[in-house]
Amino acid sequence: MTIGSLGYLGLRVKDPAAFHNFLTGVLGLMPGEAAGRYRLDDLDWRIAVETGDADDLAYVGFEVAGPAELEAVRARLLEGGVTIDAADPALLAARGVLGLVACRDPDGLGVEIFYGPTCRTETPFVSPAGVPAFVTGDQGLGHIVLSTKDMAATRRFYQDLLGFRLSDIIRLRAGPDFAFDMEFFHCNARHHTLALMPVPLPKRLHHLMVQVPTLDAVGFALERATAAGVPITASLGRHTNDQMVSFYSQTPAGFEVEFGQGAIEVDEATWRVARHDKTSSWGHKRPAH
Ligand SMILES: [Fe+2]
Repeated sequence: MTIGSLGYLGLRVKDPAAFHNFLTGVLGLMPGEAAGRYRLDDLDWRIAVETGDADDLAYVGFEVAGPAELEAVRARLLEGGVTIDAADPALLAARGVLGLVACRDPDGLGVEIFYGPTCRTETPFVSPAGVPAFVTGDQGLGHIVLSTKDMAATRRFYQDLLGFRLSDIIRLRAGPDFAFDMEFFHCNARHHTLALMPVPLPKRLHHLMVQVPTLDAVGFALERATAAGVPITASLGRHTNDQMVSFYSQTPAGFEVEFGQGAIEVDEATWRVARHDKTSSWGHKRPAH
């Protein structure tokens, strides 16, 4: 096991002010000390919002335990033929971490492996929307679902080089003659930290998921989203594979955020890979276009 968890995300969006209102008012994230930084827990930041035209995920940070683990990942990436950017003190300072290796995944997404994030235990997390807490810690900030143009290369990068392990797949039937497999990967007890969709989508990030401890916290978030006029892109529902009860809303950048609770956890000693034919047991209805 190498990667510990999803540590942070960088988003590049056209309308950071609208994004600020969405992240704080709807999701209930806490503004960090620096502008454009958002907290889910005791860490200085988990999500950074920068101004840019992409309206997409710009970079992702995966946390490892310490310097020895970082060196192991660096060696493995080099062995795998991945180009690693030279260590840049300005980047370390910007991310607020002790050590970092920066590279790109096969579709060009910035991928940073780091250790030693800045902790703000002296300023406890308080949600401006009254969210009691987010489920983070050893499970990281949540999960991301990415589209990829080259599944084989992307799977090799995340699974073979970074050490993500397959949780299960969902075979999605997109037409009478067209089906594809979504592949779900874990690196800790969270059922999936990363899922890959082998289809070209307009954005690399299909959705980001944040998890709360109670069904009430999901219900209150759904009511905040509805009251704010945020499009609900999937109604309340339960996923087949991680069994999370969640809803999806559309961010001002177009990609979605899943807000959920109650996911099962992976016990590495007993986990068996499964195949599903549906994403949801019930609910998660998409609005008719
Ligand atoms: Fe999800």
